[in-house]
Amino acid sequence: MATNWNASSWRAAEAKHLPTYPDAAKLAAVEETLTRFPPLVFAGEARALKADLAEVAAGKGFLLQGGDCAESFAEFHPNNIRDTFRVLLQMAVVLTFAGKQPVVKVGRMAGQFAKPRSSPVEKIGDVELPSYLGDNINGIEFTSESRVPDPERMLRAYSQAAATLNLLRAFSTGGYANLRQVHQWTLDHIGKSPWAAKFSETADKIGEALDFMEACGVNPSTVPQLQGTTFYTSHEALLLQYEQAMTRQDSLTGQWYDTSAHMLWIGDRTRFEGSAHVEFLRGVGNPIGMKCGPSLTPDALLRMLDTLNPAREPGRMTLISRFGDDKVEAGLPPLVRAVAREGHPVVWSCDPMHGNVIKANSGYKTRPFDRILNEVKGFFAVHRAEGSHAGGIHIEMTGQDVTECVGGAVAITHEALADRYHTHCDPRLNAAQSIELAFLLAEAINLERAERKAEAA
Ligand code: PEP
Ligand code: CO
Repeated sequence: MATNWNASSWRAAEAKHLPTYPDAAKLAAVEETLTRFPPLVFAGEARALKADLAEVAAGKGFLLQGGDCAESFAEFHPNNIRDTFRVLLQMAVVLTFAGKQPVVKVGRMAGQFAKPRSSPVEKIGDVELPSYLGDNINGIEFTSESRVPDPERMLRAYSQAAATLNLLRAFSTGGYANLRQVHQWTLDHIGKSPWAAKFSETADKIGEALDFMEACGVNPSTVPQLQGTTFYTSHEALLLQYEQAMTRQDSLTGQWYDTSAHMLWIGDRTRFEGSAHVEFLRGVGNPIGMKCGPSLTPDALLRMLDTLNPAREPGRMTLISRFGDDKVEAGLPPLVRAVAREGHPVVWSCDPMHGNVIKANSGYKTRPFDRILNEVKGFFAVHRAEGSHAGGIHIEMTGQDVTECVGGAVAITHEALADRYHTHCDPRLNAAQSIELAFLLAEAINLERAERKAEAA
């Protein structure tokens, strides 16, 4: 267990991107209320995820992490949860079938509200207001009242996270995610995409494999894994007041866990040395992610790993690189080499979203799909060259048919961005783009496998 740590020791460290609440008494009352609420996840589940990720770190699996950039109160609807869950499972099916390895499924869901912003203020015309920081902190409406941080939003975020998690648990174990269902999952949103046909082909092959196994006596009653799936949740542990209030001591092990999600990650803007966010996360037993952008040096990364994972537990650390498609091939290898040299067991995952944002002429923030694919290709190429395992993908996506990222097989044009641009923060892949990405990933995973096999032969 971490030494000289307690759930509030982060308060003495340097905290960036935390809101200043004008009403301290109200904040304290909300924190006190939250500490008495039930945990959203159990320590044992976080340990199970850590064990799954340890397999990925050892080269025997792939991490699929995805969901909204920012969940919102306005988009809270069962259909949105269902559709995002379904697209993630469809991606997982493609990756599992093509890659012949387990896929660890983790949603950016059920708690992904708070956002670090590049500027503390937003200006429209002559009016300047504090930036929107996420629905659990302030409101997106461009008025001075709405932009005041309100602690009570944390309670609403907790209840939304609890209801979202409840539905996700029901979907993943209640029959909806039965592999037999794969055929029935409609492809409404991706019907126009050439990848829809490829997906049906994969689903048919899985159906055949299941028929064969059933004939051999393997069915959902003999093998419970066929009945459902394991689905974990995650978010950026940004709003430390909330995370602290959700932190509980596990009665079985005495270890502390942040029970707001199975996995928490540290953003690229809060992973500096001496950071309050690093201080907080070093003491909880959950699996931890850390974003690795162009400003991170190999030495700083190693010091961070020593702080966050001194015991070098496999599955504890997932390093999520997010360089930009033009920087990944130069920027990533020094980090991969340093980590390998020091023998730190990590999952390397690729976030091809956050280094590839551009501002369209229309004023919309977008991400060209080509650049996203390019960064993924670069990420796999680096790991093939270094002999390390390209272990995962971290994406901002939705099951909705939005028009936020330009490009893809059913090409979203710059002109079309205005049609269905609904995100509360960064542009997300839509369902068709997500499935297309899954097929590209499957190809890259197969290439890595083939090379490994050839080397072993
Ligand atoms: C995010 O994942 O939404 C995010 C803000 O990413 P990063 O910290 O990598 O910029
Ligand atoms: Co984002």
